[in-house]
Amino acid sequence: MQSRQVMALEARHFQPCFTRKPLAVARGKGSRVYDLEGKAYLDFIGSLGTCVVGHGNPVVLQAVKAQLGKIVSTSNLYYSEPQALLAKRLARVSGLGKSFFSNSGSESVEAALKLARKASGKKGIIATEHAFHGRTLGALSATSKEKYKAYCRPLVPGFKEIPFNDARALEKAIGADTAAFLVEPIQGEAGVLVPSEGYLQEVREICAKRDVLLILDEVQSGVARTGKFFAYQHEKILPDIVCTAKGLGNGFPIGATIAAAGIEFGKGDHGSTFGGNPLACAAALAVLDCIQEQGLEARAAEKGAWLAKALNAVMGPDSALQGVRGRGLMLGLGVQGGKADAVVDACRAQGLLVNGVGDDTIRLLPPLTVSLKECRQAVAVLEEALAV
Ligand SMILES: Cc1ncc(COP(=O)(O)O)c(C=O)c1O
Repeated sequence: MQSRQVMALEARHFQPCFTRKPLAVARGKGSRVYDLEGKAYLDFIGSLGTCVVGHGNPVVLQAVKAQLGKIVSTSNLYYSEPQALLAKRLARVSGLGKSFFSNSGSESVEAALKLARKASGKKGIIATEHAFHGRTLGALSATSKEKYKAYCRPLVPGFKEIPFNDARALEKAIGADTAAFLVEPIQGEAGVLVPSEGYLQEVREICAKRDVLLILDEVQSGVARTGKFFAYQHEKILPDIVCTAKGLGNGFPIGATIAAAGIEFGKGDHGSTFGGNPLACAAALAVLDCIQEQGLEARAAEKGAWLAKALNAVMGPDSALQGVRGRGLMLGLGVQGGKADAVVDACRAQGLLVNGVGDDTIRLLPPLTVSLKECRQAVAVLEEALAV
């Protein structure tokens, strides 16, 4: 099939809820994807942050193939070895306790919200301005953007919104019925907003003092992207519950909600037919092996610092670039208002995939395996696309 045929079919048969770019991706290898006509693109949005160890990673491929030959789905009526092993590995990398597995970031947040209400016996959830936690009704109730929520009302009751990066606002907002504070350590969809140093430590202390659970949504920032397995590890804190998904299966759908010791569902409190299926868990175990064996946390930190420095050097009177934000390989480039989409399109025309958040930010979420040569190529294309 040709790309234009795919686009025409989609227009007739698929719900028009995505604003897609005119590109039909056929395959990927390493940091590159290829369209149906065979044109190569450097994937600096990493399939929206899901591709952490490279497209077609041989270790993941081998693990998935081996598991495919055994069994795909066992349901949660029975035990499965990959699920038990993954829960053990996640406890180790998170410093927390027991996991619940699902199939997406939104579901990992749903599980966290339910777990918080279950464990605390309270109902209130505090979330932050500009937050994005997903599209299911619970996660959406904690999401800030009015456009996503307006037509869905009534949403789940009990949610309150406070400014991001404002620990005093949290102190004030907590009431007798507050179960949890839900926050992203770095707000991704908001445009890669990094809170002030110490913010997470402060909210950790406030939550502990006021008997409120701290839920960190690391769906985007987790799985080594910021230079530590979880972004909270930069601030040497532990949340009560952490949500992860995106990169965990290197694109294979899996979400995990990991809770501190003692925060547990009872029998029948939650469930999922596909959640934690052996195939997804085998993919995630292979991802964790790659991260550990290839030192990808350090590589994300190093490549991210290189990119930030190189992009900062692009700034000047001839460029629409106004600043570089983020940590590791989760980067947001502030651009002159209204220019983001044009820059995204200009990059794509030159074989570089990046993504616009709002009209003034370009987001980079490349695979953590990206090479220095690929980073150089991306900066050269960005520099040209940002020229005014
Ligand atoms: C921080 C955060 N939470 C939750 C989600 C929702 O994840 P999913 O689209 O896999 O449901 C996203 C997706 O972008 C996210 O960035």
